[in-house]
Amino acid sequence: MPQKKPVVVVTRKLPDVIETRMMELFDARLNLADKPFSKNELMEAVKDADVLVPTVTDRIDASVLAAAGPNLRLVANYGVGVDNIDLASARSKGITVTNTPGVLTEDTADMAMALILAVPRRIAEGERVMRTGDWPGWSPTWMLGHRINGKRLGIVGMGRIGQAVARRARAFGMAIHYHSRRPISEQVEQELEATYWESLDQMLARVDIVSVNCPHTPATYHLLSARRLKLLQPHAYVINTSRGEVIDENALTRMLENRQIAGAGLDVFENEPAVNPKLLNLDSVVLLPHMGSATIEGRISMGEKVLVNIQTFIDGHTPPDRVIETMF
Ligand code: DGY
Repeated sequence: MPQKKPVVVVTRKLPDVIETRMMELFDARLNLADKPFSKNELMEAVKDADVLVPTVTDRIDASVLAAAGPNLRLVANYGVGVDNIDLASARSKGITVTNTPGVLTEDTADMAMALILAVPRRIAEGERVMRTGDWPGWSPTWMLGHRINGKRLGIVGMGRIGQAVARRARAFGMAIHYHSRRPISEQVEQELEATYWESLDQMLARVDIVSVNCPHTPATYHLLSARRLKLLQPHAYVINTSRGEVIDENALTRMLENRQIAGAGLDVFENEPAVNPKLLNLDSVVLLPHMGSATIEGRISMGEKVLVNIQTFIDGHTPPDRVIETMF
């Protein structure tokens, strides 16, 4: 007798090819209108679901998990960051959590590199001038930025994405410095000619550009605090393609306003989709709407990972991308 398909609730619109496969494999409840679920809608959804597929925009906190019915056994996150999910509550309820690592590394690193180039070279500012028709013509001293080649890049978090950023930055002639919980392998360190700093404070004071590439966890919340941001040199730039919460956004904004640092390239914000309005008035920042992983190829690969994680779990095996709290 054919088995009843598991109920899989997907909270946002996913690429068509992924949704089609979801429908074939599961009793999938899709969100074709792509309207984010309210907290009440999430609590309602988990009552009957066997599997929940949330994204970064859904807070799967203790109260949502407490509302879950007995069937909910898997939260298959569509995204690598799992700071939207209360992992401890999930564990205590025996709910497995999976994510989508690896498949958005290159895209996110590309975006970090794009910002590393865009901010010192004033690319967005120049583009704005063109659109307003205010270009006075070429001049030897107008719109001068700063050279990338030869500068020191300090990477905060040297996991998959941090290393992919380092590879790109090497190709642009930058010197790689990094801070991580532990040093990377000697072989990769040599390949990247990277310098490890056990002390983040020491590193921040010495680099020209900082790229944040660590996940947001309780330990990394406001890792770049007001105190640490003050260690940066006045000519330094801050790039963030990870999570807004890793930087004290208000402190960063104040420092940018007071020109205590030179600029910032931000793809992520503390209270998305809200952005500190003061940032919008600053020419020294480039702001992007959390689009580091936003390629169709990446989003399809993320969906494929979600499908494999769900199917493997339903087949009674440990899903390949099972998240364990100590990983973060
Ligand atoms: C991720 O996968 O963590 C991206 O930031 C989108 O959620």
